[in-house]
Amino acid sequence: MTTIGIHDLAVATASHVVELDDLASRADIDPAKFRVGLGQEQMSIPGLDEDIVTMGAAAAQRIIDRHGVDGIRTLFFATETGIDQSRAAGVHVHELLGLPRSVRVVELKQACYSATAALQAAAGLIARNPDERVLVIASDVARYELDTAAEPTQGAGAVAFLVSADPAIAVLETAAGVYTAEVDDFWRPNDSVTAVVDGKLSVSAYLDGVAGAWDDYRSRGGVDIDQIDWFCHHQPFTKMAVKAHRALGQHLGVELAPELVTATTGYNRRIGNSYTASLYIALAALLEGENDLTGSRIGLFSYGSGSVSEFFTLVVQPGYREATRGAETEAILAARTPVDVPTYRELHDAAHRDSTVDVEIAPDSPGPFHFAGLSGRARRYTRD
Ligand code: CAA
Repeated sequence: MTTIGIHDLAVATASHVVELDDLASRADIDPAKFRVGLGQEQMSIPGLDEDIVTMGAAAAQRIIDRHGVDGIRTLFFATETGIDQSRAAGVHVHELLGLPRSVRVVELKQACYSATAALQAAAGLIARNPDERVLVIASDVARYELDTAAEPTQGAGAVAFLVSADPAIAVLETAAGVYTAEVDDFWRPNDSVTAVVDGKLSVSAYLDGVAGAWDDYRSRGGVDIDQIDWFCHHQPFTKMAVKAHRALGQHLGVELAPELVTATTGYNRRIGNSYTASLYIALAALLEGENDLTGSRIGLFSYGSGSVSEFFTLVVQPGYREATRGAETEAILAARTPVDVPTYRELHDAAHRDSTVDVEIAPDSPGPFHFAGLSGRARRYTRD
């Protein structure tokens, strides 16, 4: 039987970073609340010439550099911070990367969940034709209003992953559990650049999703909890993954070790929330970390507010380390430019730009892709 799964995975983020200790001092909050209470140290902040397209293209470029475009017929772009109500952000990426005309592009939306829908849809396409490969991009800028409880849980990041038959990194197992429930925990109205959130409700809705998706997973032939070696849970802030793990244990009446989760949090502690990308950045941290995962089964919990949840598993392949990119990810994180709180607040305010007015934006970030401004209400992009 053809195995299908993740063949390569690359992380990207924005080019600025703010220290949460600085944010805490300015707001007269104990820094331990963010570091320990939320499990966050830093957040990536986009410059004026960066957005979901530039980050997504940067991640995808590295996949294309390594594997070329042969067999890629589909590009799925998962995001909940879309830049247009109609055109898929992935069409801009298609142009920036010079992908063949014979690649279909579509955007998927359901809060932080949709990259998982993209992975499952990709697996379906490849099951039909094992010669096809699917490029999935998940990219988001998490932005809340300033001076709110949600402010320290912002961030920005992207992942690109290649889904194929006979994958080098991890095989996607067939059993999956899903759970959908309408809930007003978090959403972003069409006229707003910041999300509306009921923080406490969002945490409880997330935990309801953990239990609901798990129960469905088990009822559909999923393995027992003791056959799962590591757990990646969606990370709006990394402490949430620990809460999820504890809640799953309580739901099952077993004690689950926190270190099976803490091995996944290293990148997200420094990037902040990246919504659709967050779960897969957690996966990258686990794959690129010090543990040898060969043959391990990883349980992944994907949560998108509003809400849709899914629990599924990957099995790590022999030789996977040769396909991972730990040094690259570390270099990307280390290359970010630190900004102080006033500069971060100015960048945050700039996101409220009037989209009816033409504007030219000079390249500012290291690139290689830049948002160049608006003309005739259309977004323009350049590459170095
Ligand atoms: N030292 C150590 N810990 C401290 C502390 C201190 N001095 N002061 C407070 N804390 C702890 C608190 O005890 C608490 O921990 P527990 O939850 O483990 O008890 C933690 O810090 C947070 O403090 P509060 O309970 O006072 O919460 P808050 O008012 O700061 O809000 C939040 C936290 C609700 C997560 C808020 O940041 C928020 O609304 N964020 C955006 C929404 C979000 O991320 N929701 C997550 C689920 S939804 C989802 O997953 C989708 C998505 O990506 C958005």
